[in-house]
Amino acid sequence: MAEINLLARYPRARRNLIARKLGQDANKRVAREFGREYFDGAREQGYGGYRYDGRWLPIARDIAEHFKLRPGDRVLDIGCAKGFLMRDLMAVVPGLEVWGLEISQYAIDNCHADTRGRILRGSAQRLPFASDSFAAALCINVVHNLAGEACVEAIKEIERVAPGRGYIQVDAYRNDDERDAFLDWVLTAETFGKPEMWRALFDRAGYTGDYYWTILEIDADLTRSVAGATTTSSV
Ligand SMILES: C[S@@+](CC[C@H](N)C(=O)[O-])C[C@H]1O[C@@H](n2cnc3c(N)ncnc32)[C@H](O)[C@@H]1O
Repeated sequence: MAEINLLARYPRARRNLIARKLGQDANKRVAREFGREYFDGAREQGYGGYRYDGRWLPIARDIAEHFKLRPGDRVLDIGCAKGFLMRDLMAVVPGLEVWGLEISQYAIDNCHADTRGRILRGSAQRLPFASDSFAAALCINVVHNLAGEACVEAIKEIERVAPGRGYIQVDAYRNDDERDAFLDWVLTAETFGKPEMWRALFDRAGYTGDYYWTILEIDADLTRSVAGATTTSSV
């Protein structure tokens, strides 16, 4: 099990924490439906429009190299959204067999054309795949959307389908400032905490794969009228 950032080359974006905090409770309710508003509605309710733009290509290359993926290998992307990473993995390793699992019918209906028919609808808690059947199982910013034991079950499922070959990325914070920014920003996460909390959960689930954190980095200049933060890949 290794801490490794496979999303190091995901573009960084500035976040407006104040705009997100306004109406946060109502926006959380909408976002947690994982419907059109979450993917293609206002920024306060999710992605603010999620279209294919190639941002996952360098990450797909890093994932392929990390897991030494070869044509014919099977890869699963759990919580794959519109299948953009799936599409890019198939582009960088032609012949790779990539499958996705998504809870959102909207995301499946609006997936990248190259992934049509490859995304199954379901929850990360129960993966409809045989044990030890994937060369890699990716789960990026997804299991934190499950609460309590459901989150542990999802981590166990990743280990089951790809023992020692998982990659989990989750929301986390290292100190009080990062926690406060996270609480202002969060829409859908139900389980969150410091890296040590996550490591304990991974141990409890018997997880032996790799992992990393999505952490909001707070701007040094907090005197600006708009409190901001940057991060990679946090909706
Ligand atoms: C923050 S997005 C991350 C999407 C993609 N993995 C990425 O990194 O861009 C969370 C995704 O997980 C999906 N999701 C939420 N809960 C889920 C669950 N219990 N099982 C499977 N997918 C889920 C959402 O619909 C959404 O597509």
